[in-house]
Amino acid sequence: MSSRRQGLTPRWQWPWLVLCLLAHFKFQLVRAQSAVQTLFVLDSDTIASFNVPPESDDINFYVLTPDWYQYTAIGFGATMSDSLMLVMYPSADRKSVTVSPRKARGNTEPVYSPDTQLVIHDTSIDEENSNMVVNATCRRCLPYATANSASGVERTASMMFAVGPELALNTDDLDARIRRHVAYGNFEIDLRKATGEGGIGEGISGGNSSDAVLSGERGLVQDSNKAATAHGILYALVALAVAPFDSLVAGALRTRWAWVHGLTATVYFAFVIGALVPGVMVSREHVATQRFRTGHQVLGLLAVVALTIMFVWGIALSWIKHSANKRGQEPPENTHLLGMIHRWTCRTIWVLFLVNVGLGLKLSEHKTVLIFGYMAVALAVLVVLIPIYFCLWKCSKRGREKEGSIEMPTIYDHNSNYLGVHHRN
Ligand SMILES: *[C@@H]1O[C@H](CO)[C@@H](O)[C@H](O)[C@H]1NC(C)=O
Ligand SMILES: *[C@@H]1O[C@H](CO)[C@@H](O)[C@H](O)[C@H]1NC(C)=O
Repeated sequence: MSSRRQGLTPRWQWPWLVLCLLAHFKFQLVRAQSAVQTLFVLDSDTIASFNVPPESDDINFYVLTPDWYQYTAIGFGATMSDSLMLVMYPSADRKSVTVSPRKARGNTEPVYSPDTQLVIHDTSIDEENSNMVVNATCRRCLPYATANSASGVERTASMMFAVGPELALNTDDLDARIRRHVAYGNFEIDLRKATGEGGIGEGISGGNSSDAVLSGERGLVQDSNKAATAHGILYALVALAVAPFDSLVAGALRTRWAWVHGLTATVYFAFVIGALVPGVMVSREHVATQRFRTGHQVLGLLAVVALTIMFVWGIALSWIKHSANKRGQEPPENTHLLGMIHRWTCRTIWVLFLVNVGLGLKLSEHKTVLIFGYMAVALAVLVVLIPIYFCLWKCSKRGREKEGSIEMPTIYDHNSNYLGVHHRN
């Protein structure tokens, strides 16, 4: 037990660890004397004891939990929606524990609920063992846990447990923003065993079969934020590969096989919309992003709107050129200008995506080393590709000068026979 930073490995199958933990935490409860139900979450080294005073809706609780998670939360109810949660994290001076009562409307970040009456008896941080200790009473909190019980089983309280990611959150702010949990589970308190005088007292320890465990076969469920991961990976692909490739195609195949650009642009657009969906889903889960006002979100939405316009713009442009060609006419004079605006706007959008992926990594509090790694890759892509673009631009300019007044084929010219070589002259 010397190195306890072992993450969330399934270790619950070794009963001796219970004893080890008990000894380690010097956890001393008189279970023979007082009515207490205790939850052991060995995967996250947490012990939580509960007691309900007779004829009362209050809950006394005593929690011992590591301080390396962003928070540890105990919830009253079977699901997060509309239930009460007590979110515990170290105080700013790391001498005590901030216990923040919160409520969530759905499976979203809970917000501070000031009308909850919490009586904190004692909290402390045991720096040596990296533990937070909380001894408190939650007044009139029991109904949140028994609200949905059928009348026959009303003597059990449905409870939840969760821990946050391994990030530091040392603050006294009761409404501090927290991240999505990395692991969670449900458990039940047997109120017949937990109801009694005496609270959770100190004294000698002993094993008792009336301990609560996380219910279900899965026990502590590891949670991964798949939507956020998908959003990040898809946009990194867009910024580092899809968008530059599309620009490359647009530049290289401007005179011949221009339809390929139509294809890559469609893929690009599909990627951007596909990556937007999980981003919006994640945004709605967190208080800080629910109003879509962070820099990352504003810039991202701006880029998506601009790209949508440019996608339609590009289709319209090639349609104008196509119909002019069909009539055997030169495309109208202003299509040059429209084309130039299209090119430069799309280049700007690409840079926006490059920057915004970095902002997204920052917003989701990824490790600095990852952010710097991304910045290095993004810079490398720019440094490699800008000279290539410049060459392409030079070549195509020279090509156009040579071709003189010969009209350029557009995206749709080759749709019917693109495999056959299509020579206009
Ligand atoms: C376990 O708890 C029950 C009731 O809560 C009590 O009667 C019993 O003595 C306890 N056993 C031990 C070993 O503490
Ligand atoms: C928790 O606080 C109560 C009230 O002050 C006290 O009686 C009890 O002994 C404390 N429990 C523990 C385990 O420290």
